[in-house]
Amino acid sequence: MEKLYEGKSKIVYAGPDEWTCYIKYKDTATAGNGAKKEDLPEKGRINAQISNIIFDYLTRYGIKTHMLRFVDPTMILAKKAEIIPLEVVVRNVAAGHFSSRYGVEEGSALKNVVVEYSYKNDDLGDPLICDSQITALGIAEQFELDEIKELALKINELLVRFFDKAGIKLIDFKIELGRYNGEIILCDEISPDCARLWDKTTNEKMDKDRFRRDMGDVMYYYQEILRRVMKANE
Ligand SMILES: Nc1ncnc2c1ncn2[C@@H]1O[C@H](COP(=O)(O)OP(=O)(O)OP(=O)(O)O)[C@@H](O)[C@H]1O
Ligand SMILES: [Mg+2]
Repeated sequence: MEKLYEGKSKIVYAGPDEWTCYIKYKDTATAGNGAKKEDLPEKGRINAQISNIIFDYLTRYGIKTHMLRFVDPTMILAKKAEIIPLEVVVRNVAAGHFSSRYGVEEGSALKNVVVEYSYKNDDLGDPLICDSQITALGIAEQFELDEIKELALKINELLVRFFDKAGIKLIDFKIELGRYNGEIILCDEISPDCARLWDKTTNEKMDKDRFRRDMGDVMYYYQEILRRVMKANE
């Protein structure tokens, strides 16, 4: 297979035609823009499955995604989109960079849902970026940003409901969107690698923060998230 791009957690290969690509989930975990790196056995398979269940659920509620089908347990065939180089972050509760940047305790309630963008550029360290900066740089048009924001909020509403059913609080998450056939579609993945997921009753962290912060039992919790989302999806 022709490798098009190797990222930190996935590899993109050319698909059977120009409209598609294969996306292989790796077991590699990284944090701090690659500064911390480790292999976590089974992570690729578990994230591929979690992401698929979530994309499947979102599709049932009218969200367009890149997912076509599984090729093997760690690889999917997807629509090959032109990725808009923005990390779109949705926050329901203060945590992570939001907490450190603005000096609010992790777990604090927010008066409204936050949608924020970072410019996807590893050399620059994915800096925060606002609408007028995005349009000034030609990264996306304002009408696209309006659609992206509406989409992000709708996905958030659906996911909060879904995770709640799984006994999980959705604290925040990151999505990537792409242009495909004149539309904006949900790409990349939604997994514990790119969402903060806390147990609904104990507030135990079940996501990549366990890896970032050396809390241990990373794969135990990822496996538990898979178990719960499978059950919530029945
Ligand atoms: N449907 C899609 N079509 C084309 N590219 C995609 C699609 N879905 C995801 N991608 C891209 O595939 C790559 C996945 O690799 P990975 O997540 O490992 O990247 P990464 O290390 O996070 O680096 P970066 O996202 O900064 O490129 C990302 O660049 C992502 O934007
Ligand atoms: Mg990525």
